[in-house]
Amino acid sequence: MLIIPGSNSPRLAERVSRELGAELADVETKKFPDGEIYTRIVSDVRGRECAVVQSTPDNDSIVELILTLDLLRDLGASGVHAVVPYLGYSRQEKRFREGEALSAKTILRVIKSLSDSILTVNCHFLKAEGEFDFHGIRIRNINAFPEIANYFRERTNNPFLIAPDKGSLEIVKNLAMAIGCKFDSLKKERISGEEVKTEAKEMNVEGKDVIILDDTISTGNTIINAAELVKKQGAKSVSAGCVHGIFSKGLKKLNAATDGVISTDTIQSDVSRVSVAGLIAKELR
Ligand code: R5P
Repeated sequence: MLIIPGSNSPRLAERVSRELGAELADVETKKFPDGEIYTRIVSDVRGRECAVVQSTPDNDSIVELILTLDLLRDLGASGVHAVVPYLGYSRQEKRFREGEALSAKTILRVIKSLSDSILTVNCHFLKAEGEFDFHGIRIRNINAFPEIANYFRERTNNPFLIAPDKGSLEIVKNLAMAIGCKFDSLKKERISGEEVKTEAKEMNVEGKDVIILDDTISTGNTIINAAELVKKQGAKSVSAGCVHGIFSKGLKKLNAATDGVISTDTIQSDVSRVSVAGLIAKELR
């Protein structure tokens, strides 16, 4: 198999290729002055199974992924696999209000039309690991939370886990059972893309090392609200972990509100402490 690195995920692609013992393709990507994307695959892909590793946290990375998948077919690849560790637009998987675009479906339809398989990591609307059918599109989804749990397990004795909203409750509950520690959850209301309200709640966190877990951190407000509540209630320490660290507002406020934030490398950042490369390689194998 040949691993094609997308410009959003070069390090992860390299790690996947190393895990697999597979060749990493030589790719040239640049941007024209008007913002259009240019991409070229230098390596010979003819007759080869190819996996493009590209997270899509922004529009440019989506366009680049689409160009690359189609290019691979044009160049005669025998198999084209889309590995999209962070799938952008996945938070709009349904019409919350009449007339809204089903963005997740649209993006996935395009990817599907250009590839033989789609692999995601903790896709926001798929709450478990495995194979799913989403509007007739087959997606294989990997769960990276056990890796995050391992990270914290090695560093924290008897932690207390918190789900900052309903969406992460199931995952946190399962992890707490696996680790054998206590957990609790909060209720969050989203006011806008930027603003969230978290309901105050008494939790038994005094003197505890608390870890708040969510699939995605975007603005960070969900975690900041939860961390402030937990700190007020006398927690010994408050850490946060997520699979996808978008950190659209940077890490400064998050670091001030917690004793540390970590993420995986589905989106590379300064706090990508856990790699999903091994999990992806296992699936590709
Ligand atoms: C939403 O349902 C997700 O699980 C996260 O809670 C959300 O994306 C976090 O967003 P933010 O960091 O902007 O509060």
